[in-house]
Amino acid sequence: MAHSYLCSDRTHPPEDLGADDRISNTSTGPSFPNVLSERAGQPDAISTDPVKFAGDRSLFGGPSLTRRALMQGTSVIAALAVSPAYATATDQTGHDSSLTFPPLPNIHDEDSHVAKGYHLHTLIRWGDPVVAGAPAFDPGNQSAQAQALQFGYNNDFVAFMPLPKGSLNSGHGLLCVNHEYTIPHLMFPGITKENDHTLTQDQVNIEMAAHGHSVVEIKRTGHTWHVVRNSPLNRRLTALDTKFQLTGPAAGSERLKTSTDLTGTCVIGTINNCAGGKTPWGTILFAEENFDGYFAGRIENTGEARNYARLGVGNAEYLWSRYHSRFDVEKEPNEANRFGWIVEFDPYDPYSIPKKRTALGRFKHEGATTVLNKDGRVVVYSGDDQRFEYIYRFVTARPYDATAAGMTDLLDEGTLSVARFMADGTLEWLPLVFGQGALIPANDFHSQADVLIETRRAADLVGATPMDRPEDIETNPVTGVVYAAMTNNTKRTADTLDAPNPRNMNRHGHILELIPPGTAPDRNKAKADHTANHFTWDIFLLAGNPDKAEDQSRYGHDVGRSGWLSCPDNVAFDNQGRLWITTDGAPKAGITDGVWACDVKGDGRAITRRFYACPRGAELCGPEFTPDNSSYFASVQHPGDEPGSTYDTPSTRWPDFHEFMPPRPSIQVIRKIGGGPIG
Ligand code: FEO
Ligand code: CA
Ligand code: CA
Ligand code: CA
Repeated sequence: MAHSYLCSDRTHPPEDLGADDRISNTSTGPSFPNVLSERAGQPDAISTDPVKFAGDRSLFGGPSLTRRALMQGTSVIAALAVSPAYATATDQTGHDSSLTFPPLPNIHDEDSHVAKGYHLHTLIRWGDPVVAGAPAFDPGNQSAQAQALQFGYNNDFVAFMPLPKGSLNSGHGLLCVNHEYTIPHLMFPGITKENDHTLTQDQVNIEMAAHGHSVVEIKRTGHTWHVVRNSPLNRRLTALDTKFQLTGPAAGSERLKTSTDLTGTCVIGTINNCAGGKTPWGTILFAEENFDGYFAGRIENTGEARNYARLGVGNAEYLWSRYHSRFDVEKEPNEANRFGWIVEFDPYDPYSIPKKRTALGRFKHEGATTVLNKDGRVVVYSGDDQRFEYIYRFVTARPYDATAAGMTDLLDEGTLSVARFMADGTLEWLPLVFGQGALIPANDFHSQADVLIETRRAADLVGATPMDRPEDIETNPVTGVVYAAMTNNTKRTADTLDAPNPRNMNRHGHILELIPPGTAPDRNKAKADHTANHFTWDIFLLAGNPDKAEDQSRYGHDVGRSGWLSCPDNVAFDNQGRLWITTDGAPKAGITDGVWACDVKGDGRAITRRFYACPRGAELCGPEFTPDNSSYFASVQHPGDEPGSTYDTPSTRWPDFHEFMPPRPSIQVIRKIGGGPIG
C-alpha cells in the first residue's frame, strides 16, 4: 500500500489508524596504533592501591596517578591482576556516602524489589489503554488496531514532563516512554524462538504497533500516581502508521527518497527507540538504535552496499519485510537510510509531527542528552552502541533564547563531532564537516548529507576512538562533568586495548568522565565549556565483582557484597548530582539487573549501592525522577526474557502474577514511604 506522504500536515488524534553485541566496525581506525604508541611513552607510575583509584581526590584536578596507571596498557593489566581485590564480606561500607537508603541485597526471583523504606507501584503495563477508545488488554485476542491505542512493548527511555509545561510540578505531568523492540515468543500464544518465523501479518502488525512511543498524562494523589484515562494529551507513535518528518542537512537527499516519498522528507514510523533526553524548550529527543535488524535483502543489490555493511543492514531479525516491502532493501533500497536518526518530539502538542533531526548523524544512537552551555548554545551527547563504535557530540550553531522565535528548529544547524581519546588523559572532538579533512569527494563524500548518512564511515576517516559499546551519556547537573557508560565489549583484545578501554575481554563495562574545560578544580557546572574542542577524561569506575581478581573491577572503595554491578547501561542524576546507574546484562555476572546509586565526589565517590532489583529476565532502563526527586520511574524491560521462557511457559508472570497473563514490560514508580527526596 502506498502511503500518502503529507508530512507538513499535522497528525490526527488519536493516530489513525539484541542486536547490540555485533561488530560493524572493520576499519582499522587510527586510534588503536595512535593510543598504543602514545602509551608506550608513558612513565611507569602504576598504583596498585585500589583505594586510590577513583576515590583519589586528585581526580578533581588533572590526571591522577591511577589514570596514568591505566595508560600503561598491558603492564597495567598485569598490575591490576595482582592488585588486592576488594575482599568484601559486608553490606556496609566504612566510607561516608550521602546516600541514606539501606543497600538492597542481590535478589533473583520472579518479582521486583526496592530498598527498605521505599514503596513500589506499577503505573502502566504493556497493553494498558493509552489513547481514548483503547480496549482493555486481552493477550489472547490482540490486534494491531488495539495495540496502536495501548501502551507498547519493551519500554525503555522515560521522560517526566511536568504539567503545566515549563513548571516544576512533581505531582502532574506527561510520562513519555519509548517502546524499543518486541519479543514474539513472549507476546503471542504458541510462539517459540524456534517457530517465530511463522508469524502472521496480523502479528507483525501488532509488533509494529507495539514499537514507538507513548505519551500518558499522569497525576499523583497523595503518594499514589495514576494514569489519566482518555486524556486528550495521551498519544501513541508507532512503526505502523505515524508520520515523521526528516529535517536538517540530509532531508531531501536523493539517498533518502523512496518510491512512496519522492521528497525524501517524510517517513512512516520509528523503530528501536532506546534511550533519549530532553531539550531546554520542553521537547524530548529519542534515539533510533538497532534499526538494521528490521531490514532484509541483499545489500549488494542496492547502491548503498558500503553504507549498509558498515551498519549491519540486511541481516533481518524481524519478519517485517515479508509483509511490508519497504523493509526489503532490494525492493526499497533507500528506506534503511531513513532510520538511525535522533527524533525530536513535542509531547505537549498532541498534533505535533515528530522530526528526525539529521544534523545529529545517523548511527545506532543509544540516546541523546542535552546541556545548555554557558554561552547559550545547546550541546547534545550521543553514544553509538555497538562494539568498537564511537561517542559523538553536536553543538548548535545558534544559542538558545527562550524569548526569541525560531528556536524550535535549533537542532537543524550545528556541528557534529566525534571523540578521540588520548592516552595522556585529553580528549579531542573531531568535527564531521563536509569538505574538511578526509570528508571530501575523493572519499566519496559529496555533501554534508553524505557525511550524516554515513556518519560511522566519516568518523572512521577522521580517527575517532573505538569504544566498548557507548550507551547512555549524561551531564551532571551540579558539576557539569559528563558521564558515559560503556556497557561491555567481550571482543576487546590485548591488541586493541587503550587507555579509555583498558580491560581485555571487557565483560562488565565501565563509566568514563568526560570533563569540559572550566570545571576544574572545583567542578562547577556554570564554568563548564561543553563546546570546547578539547576536554580531559578519566575513568570513574570499572564494573565487575571485587571478589574476583580476574574482573579487575575498581570502585571508590569497598562497595559491599551487593554494591558491585555489571554492564552499566542507562544513567541519570538526581538533583544533588548523584549518579544512578541501571544495568543490562548483569545476570551474566551472576547478579540481577537493577539500579545502583553513588556519589560522584567526596568520600562516597564511586561507591555504588544497589537500590532496585528487576524481576527475572528483565533489564532496567530509563532512570527518571520528578523535579523534586520524590518519585522515581523505573522502566522494566523484557521481564521473563530467559532461555526457554515463552508466552505459554514464562519464567515470571510479573507484574500481574495471573495465570492467564504473560510477563508485561511496565513502568514502576518508587517513592519513599511517607514521601521526601529519594536517595
Ligand atoms: Fe537499547 Fe544500547 O541499549
Ligand atoms: Ca540501553
Ligand atoms: Ca539517561
Ligand atoms: Ca539495554
